Amino acid sequence: MMPSKKGSLKEMYLSWPDQCRWGLANWGFGFKEEPVSPRCIVFTGMGGSGVVGDYIASIAARRLKMPIIVVKDYKLPAWVSKEDLVIAVSYSGNTLETLLCFKEAIARGCRVAAISSGGKLKELAEKHRVPWAGVQAGYVPRAALPSMLYAALSTLEALGVPVVRKEEAEEAVDVVEEALKRCSEKDLDLEIAWKLRNKVPVIVTTSSYAALAIRAKNEFNENSKLPCKVEVLPEWGHNDVVGWEKHLGEWTALIIDPREEGESELLGAAERVYSSAGIPMVKLELFGENMLAKLLYGSLVIGLASICLGVKRSVDPMETKYIAEFKKTVEEILGKKSA
Ligand code: F6R
Repeated sequence: MMPSKKGSLKEMYLSWPDQCRWGLANWGFGFKEEPVSPRCIVFTGMGGSGVVGDYIASIAARRLKMPIIVVKDYKLPAWVSKEDLVIAVSYSGNTLETLLCFKEAIARGCRVAAISSGGKLKELAEKHRVPWAGVQAGYVPRAALPSMLYAALSTLEALGVPVVRKEEAEEAVDVVEEALKRCSEKDLDLEIAWKLRNKVPVIVTTSSYAALAIRAKNEFNENSKLPCKVEVLPEWGHNDVVGWEKHLGEWTALIIDPREEGESELLGAAERVYSSAGIPMVKLELFGENMLAKLLYGSLVIGLASICLGVKRSVDPMETKYIAEFKKTVEEILGKKSA
């Protein structure tokens, strides 16, 4: 594969503090939009770009009196209308599912904004005169998470629906730096990679941090070339728990502990079950004062761990040829719709 402008995958993750600072320096992108007061905010995006909506919806669930939903599909739900704000996120700007949702949102008269590093999404945003937040090109989408996340948060604020204050986004930069420090000085990433070697990871957390567990699954899929499963408490205790009674295969549980009241205790129930089922465990305790900081901290440690694991497994953490192949298939199946 051609070397990327931004270096190796690991170098891209090491740039996260700089990506955050870039996001702060460009906060709001100079948008001068009429404030919106939507019925619902709909994020649409796939894969690494879809995670942006997941994280913002998780944070907003605790503080916004308005629903945020995330559409990882090529069509919007029937109820989405001009009363709603639709934000399309695609790092490349060329993901067909996201482009189709963008077009549908325009056709239904929704308020629309877009985030990408360029591509067709930028062209469409310009054509329809909707706010477009341009992030730096040269990364792979999953490694550009802080740039896209800060762009989305500041776009929301510029449109009059803030979810995270700029000060909180500033505080999160120190936590991202701390994640890098703990990985380089205490080998936090190496420890996780080592415990997961030759195993199938099962990522376990509580519902408030389910989005981080899904991001972690995606990272082990893409960077370590491994299948992976996600379990979220309390739902875990109503089905998955029984599966460990007579499990198959070589699993290791990665427990993501948000260190929040009640949540660590809840995770203790899962730890007892894994322990009696003979499942090895490794724990990641999230660090930071606010949810944005904790999500970024966890994402960075797990991102680096998934790269270490990929290297240990002698695969190239950067390449994702099966995704490229699937995108071609999607073009063949859905391409006519976008003509
Ligand atoms: C690749 C990655 C993928 C992409 C997805 C959508 O690094 O993470 O999951 O994010 O294929 O592509 P974009 O983000 O360009 O819309």
